Amino acid sequence: MRTELTFANLPEIETELLAVLAADTQTGKGTDAKPQPTLLTSNPAMKAAAEAVLKSGEYKAGANETLLLHAPAGLAAKRLLLVGVGKLGKATVHNVRNAAGTAVRFAKPRGIREVVFALPEAETLLAAGCSRAAIEGALLGDFDPDTYKSDRKDQSVQSFTLAAPSDAGRTALGAAFAEGVIVGESQNLTRSLVNEPGNKLTPTVLGQRAAAMAKEVGLACEVYSTDKLHELKMGAFWSVSQGSAEPPALIVMRYEPEGVKGGPVLGLVGKGITFDTGGISIKPSDNMEKMKYDMAGGAAMIGAMRAIALLKPAVRVIGIVCAAENMPDGNAQKPGDVQTAMSGKTIEIINTDAEGRLVLADGLAYAKQLGATHLIDAATLTGACVVALGMVNAGAFSNDDETYAKFVAALETSGEKFWRMPLGDEYAEMIRSDIGDIKNTGGRWGGASTAAEFLHTFAEDTPWIHLDIAGVAWNEETKPYMPKGPSGVAMRSILEWVRKYSS
Ligand code: BES
Ligand code: MN
Ligand code: ZN
Repeated sequence: MRTELTFANLPEIETELLAVLAADTQTGKGTDAKPQPTLLTSNPAMKAAAEAVLKSGEYKAGANETLLLHAPAGLAAKRLLLVGVGKLGKATVHNVRNAAGTAVRFAKPRGIREVVFALPEAETLLAAGCSRAAIEGALLGDFDPDTYKSDRKDQSVQSFTLAAPSDAGRTALGAAFAEGVIVGESQNLTRSLVNEPGNKLTPTVLGQRAAAMAKEVGLACEVYSTDKLHELKMGAFWSVSQGSAEPPALIVMRYEPEGVKGGPVLGLVGKGITFDTGGISIKPSDNMEKMKYDMAGGAAMIGAMRAIALLKPAVRVIGIVCAAENMPDGNAQKPGDVQTAMSGKTIEIINTDAEGRLVLADGLAYAKQLGATHLIDAATLTGACVVALGMVNAGAFSNDDETYAKFVAALETSGEKFWRMPLGDEYAEMIRSDIGDIKNTGGRWGGASTAAEFLHTFAEDTPWIHLDIAGVAWNEETKPYMPKGPSGVAMRSILEWVRKYSS
């Protein structure tokens, strides 16, 4: 998708589709509280073109509600598309991101290859934020997961132009727009990795994809395998990969900005299980195909590292992805086995399906060994987290309020939904082992928190955030602004958290 920012006069823009936002400006309550849809533009010709339909009551400007006008009077555009953002008082930059995605997804199946999107003019919607969000939303909406259809028609929108009023702060808008392109494309990289089936994207291939990305954006990247795991004594990580014919991949990406010597070193650690059968504690076959997305945490880190390399925050970052395939096999680990993690702690394997925490245990320890002062991990870790929060919020855990406060601030920009869940000694107690230091499951109750406490054992006192994205990494339903499939969730929030540390 070609992306462009223009300051041309809206009515004069010749295009296949001009999209403009509308909001409900009705504030009263009660019986005569009828929706009052209003265009979010000050341009009189635009307002005139939509006046009749807005008065008709047919269109309420609800969130992502669309209405198409052909040959709009007084405009050079062939079509005018209204996209709603809901109540004006409640609309945020995140509604604008979705609305831009909605406009693109409106165009795609209709063979419309060109979209011009009018930057909203409203006091509550800051122009620069909306500029970034709009282009992000457009790129996210343009993504489709049907890459292996033999008769696939490329329906992507070829050109997306953001039209800003000519008196808007040009430099700030341009910078925000450029940022949005990087973020949207990076999130789509994450999504395209998550979308790949397990036979196409093995740990080795994931490593190759990360290395290719790193080369493109100038990141240092090393991809190790079995020998390195043995050398580093990563007994927990290795125990998962030992049951697969596919070798594991330990992916290490480094961002070292020039001139930044001291200060924090951020360690980003992602779960990269390219397929999770459960191992010997095998999963039921129903829905097992979904487990190709068990590397979504790792893919989020690869996308985040790409955006970091291009946005260049002044802070050092190490990205680690622990990639393996969890398979049942003659060589697979068994319940009851005891493994020694890189940190020296011993782990009793109760359930081989609790494999994510095993690979992350060594990933977190390795990040610390490489000098990370702050840690964040992302993983499709537990079904229990999905039970608790559904597919709406992802779970977040932290051993440090100050570090977590930065993450909460990052969510304001990313717009992603995370809900903090508890850690605690009582949960740690539930994973004490009789034969070794800890066991890899703590029973049925509180499964998201016992899994987080397991990771806490390896993060120790280093300030750390754990993101359980099991319920949100894959959208089960199509939304007007996003197809069903891989969401890329966590990538934007991790990126913004990293940027909070830029000196
Ligand atoms: N990858 C799964 C978790 C998962 C569940 C991801 C649903 C996405 C959607 C993880 O490896 C797993 O199997 N967890 C087990 C842990 C249990 C054995 C303690 C689970 O949640 O059932
Ligand atoms: Mn599992
Ligand atoms: Zn898993």
